[in-house]
Amino acid sequence: MKQKSIIPGILILFLFVSFVVVPTEKTTDTSPRKIPANVKAIIDRSCFGCHNTDSRNEDAKEDLDFKKFDTLTQFKMIGTYKKIGEMLEKQKMPPSKFLDRFPEKKLTDEETSVLMNWAKREAGALLKK
Ligand code: HEC
Repeated sequence: MKQKSIIPGILILFLFVSFVVVPTEKTTDTSPRKIPANVKAIIDRSCFGCHNTDSRNEDAKEDLDFKKFDTLTQFKMIGTYKKIGEMLEKQKMPPSKFLDRFPEKKLTDEETSVLMNWAKREAGALLKK
């Protein structure tokens, strides 16, 4: 009898873990909302490492935190999209020192234009709101 009474406890724990713990972990994990998969893949590889809440790069995350992106005001968001476009156009991001160490993180021309078009499109959409 005693052993049986453990089962509901385990079930409740399982339900708690699957419905409460796991989903909250997922939401903090996903960077911005509605980023198309191809754009997100590029950001994850070449930008996210420095530009996220847990990054040790204080300057980088202060300027741009992809995890907190959707908490920005509309005004700041537009500004950030513009900055992203600027940095890419001037080839300032990812920083060249970083690329010396991790050449595989360098953006191809194709990837640069995918990111730039995305940033332009999103800024434009917000401006129309
Ligand atoms: C090695 C770490 C690192 C990586 C990778 C990186 N950045 Fe940065 N980023 C920084 C740092 C540090 C700053 C702040 C200092 C500066 O402006 O140079 C910054 C600043 C920025 C800014 C703000 C610039 C401004 O003037 O306000 C933008 C926008 C940006 N990064 C976009 C990107 C994008 C897009 C990528 C990916 C293509 C990227 N970063 C990859 C380190 C990084």
